[in-house]
Amino acid sequence: MRRILLLFIAAIGLAMLLPACKPSSGGASGEAVIKIGEFASLSGKEATFGVSSHEGTLLAVEELNAAGGLLGKKLELITEDDLSKAGEPATVVNKLIARDGVVAVLGEVASSRSLEAAPICQQNKIPMISPSSTNPKVTETGDYIFRVCFIDPFQGTVMANFATKTLKARKVAIFTDVKSDYSKGLAKFFKESFVASGGQVVTELDFNGGDKDFKAQLTAIKSANPDAVFVPGYYTDAALICIQAKQLGLNVPLFGGDGWESEDLIKIGKDAVEGQYFSTHYHPDVSSPRSKAFVEAYKKRWKNSDGTPKLPDAMAALGYDSAMILADAIKRAGTTDGPKVRDALAASRDFDGVTGKTTINEKRDATKSAVILQVKDGKFRYMETINP
Ligand code: PHE
Repeated sequence: MRRILLLFIAAIGLAMLLPACKPSSGGASGEAVIKIGEFASLSGKEATFGVSSHEGTLLAVEELNAAGGLLGKKLELITEDDLSKAGEPATVVNKLIARDGVVAVLGEVASSRSLEAAPICQQNKIPMISPSSTNPKVTETGDYIFRVCFIDPFQGTVMANFATKTLKARKVAIFTDVKSDYSKGLAKFFKESFVASGGQVVTELDFNGGDKDFKAQLTAIKSANPDAVFVPGYYTDAALICIQAKQLGLNVPLFGGDGWESEDLIKIGKDAVEGQYFSTHYHPDVSSPRSKAFVEAYKKRWKNSDGTPKLPDAMAALGYDSAMILADAIKRAGTTDGPKVRDALAASRDFDGVTGKTTINEKRDATKSAVILQVKDGKFRYMETINP
């Protein structure tokens, strides 16, 4: 009996290993569908990023299929959850390529996780498009790595100008998540720009994403007496930082970048985030005809937990655009062959996306406008658009 069981286990093990040894080629004309891989933080610390991005991406794939698919085939989106955890992106993206034979990979939102997967896509000559990772290093990985959003040297400058002009801040403190490439990069670019325009960074302190107690650093920040505090982190940490700053009587504006954009910022931060500001890529109130149609389709397709129609955020819009720009490139390439799709992606010009016209530049980044939002009455209120 025991031997039979062992044999059985061995057979299953072998069956699981086989596809990894001999990947089915999604690009081969024999395949009935075109397989697109997606990796996202569907659970864990940045779950709302992955869920939003996935909802936008899936909506795009469904619309493409409803319109007949691509090259006479339907698209299949194969999505893997990376749990918002370092180490997982490499595992799941290897699986998508080796086991599933995807022809391209969409993801991630968080820069550190895109940076982990990018070398794998590059090595396998599988084009990867990050919808919304803004750290410059992501696309520097290699010529198969693209993004459809702006990068942090721009976002840092936008927020430095905002601090100077709108907040009228001369002295700013910076509070950085040293576990995140995004946070470290954005802190650096913000500082360069803020100092170049005559501002003073009175203190710079660090935290580790996932920390719960920020009081020691916030106390030090308070004693440095800044006019405002820049927190280039993700929403859970940012919300807790706002709460604890308030408790300590640090009553100056706190502001951040796109990492703040989550309903959870408000759910966790409540009145402590009220009035605070951040920059991001998109707001549904900024209406181009393309964006209007997207907002309507998205509201029909996705619901909030209470059943009301869900409004798309920046990650949803960029997820949608990433899938659409990939589809456009496959169409122009006339094949799903990696190098040809890569070339077609690199040649994307003025693609009419939900988040604006998208041109892929020589660094495989997009040049896009940023928007600044404020938390007002428990909602994200659109303030202004800043063009590159
Ligand atoms: N830009 C962030 C990063 O690179 C991720 C992000 C994108 C967060 C869009 C919110 C909205 O890590």
